[in-house]
Amino acid sequence: MLMQVETRALKSPKADTGLSVTDITDQASRLDAFDNHERIWLGRDEKRGLTAIVAIHNTRLGPALGGTRVWPHENFDAALTDALRLSRGMTYKAAVANLSLGGGKAVIWADPATDKTPELLDAYAEMLMQLDGQYYTAEDVGLSLSDADYLRERTRNVTGTTKGGSGNPSPVTAHGVYLGLKAAFAFRNGHEDLSGVRIAVQGLGSVGWALCERLHADGAKLIVSDIDEKRVAKAVATFSAEAVGADEILSADADIFAPCALGAVLSAETIPSLKAKIVAGAANNQLAKHGDARLLIQRGVLYAPDYVLNAGGLINVAGELDPDGYDRQRVLKALQEIPATLNTIFQRAAQLGRPTNDIAKDIADERLRRG
Ligand code: NAI
Repeated sequence: MLMQVETRALKSPKADTGLSVTDITDQASRLDAFDNHERIWLGRDEKRGLTAIVAIHNTRLGPALGGTRVWPHENFDAALTDALRLSRGMTYKAAVANLSLGGGKAVIWADPATDKTPELLDAYAEMLMQLDGQYYTAEDVGLSLSDADYLRERTRNVTGTTKGGSGNPSPVTAHGVYLGLKAAFAFRNGHEDLSGVRIAVQGLGSVGWALCERLHADGAKLIVSDIDEKRVAKAVATFSAEAVGADEILSADADIFAPCALGAVLSAETIPSLKAKIVAGAANNQLAKHGDARLLIQRGVLYAPDYVLNAGGLINVAGELDPDGYDRQRVLKALQEIPATLNTIFQRAAQLGRPTNDIAKDIADERLRRG
């Protein structure tokens, strides 16, 4: 299939490296996930094992920024579909967070455990340089902080690095989730005091753990699950948390459910077992289907839309592109946009009787129209 790709070269492949970067927007437009994306680039270097897609969805608000996912999708179309969906999601995340950034995302079609060689990353860095100014990347599933550092040594179009960047975005993401979770609790209860409130946290990774630290400090009673038993044991010891199995966390007797692991945890199958009356967590794409938000309303659940709540990491890396340079204090101040936007969403949703994720999309669309 790749051989049939219609191509328009950005730059001639370098004779010494074999990298070619070609425009495959027309080919991508035939897929269902295509949503008027501005440009889709394919980078190939057979010798160094690179097949990378950079999807630029919308740059109306600024240059496209989004992480690079390294994943062995079962075929090229699946990798392309992933890049199309993820880049569109970044447009909405940036717009609703009031950032001057566009939506973009990259997928390297490779197994991060076996294929991610220095040569492959060298070839990808060259691709990013060729797209200079159109797309900035960062970590994502399969691309670690040290990989981002490696790329940053070769191209400046990488954010969230420890060298010359703002470092790991996860603690900032967790802080934004914490502020948003408190806003959701206050909307329902009229105050922000979390002491004694039962919060079920699914996933104790970089974000989930940093969230637990903040919630524990506020006196919340934590119920935790992770497929990694060591993390669970550590949370029990550190936070006096109650441990439950991975398949029990949704139905745990909690006031708030904070999904911080996987996407699609809320579906027609799982929502009936949900006990919590608030959902506020970091995981991307928590709803299996956009329309599942109506099932949450029927159960009286207040849903904090994921891409509003988890924008802290993006707000943080966006700070690196600030003309005055990165300033942590300014970033922490900007995180206040998250509870402020959520309050607007909750109020409008309550007034109009509409799902919160619909209102979030309206706000992003308004911002994109205004430019
Ligand atoms: P991570 O990979 O550090 O942690 C994920 C954790 O979830 C791991 O401890 C893993 O063992 C656990 N897990 C996996 N399957 C599970 C299951 N079935 N039940 C319970 N636990 C399970 O990831 P990270 O960075 O903490 O991100 C968490 C979520 O937040 C992801 O969905 C990510 O896309 C999203 N996110 C992260 C951002 C960041 O700055 N790191 C920014 C925005 C969103």
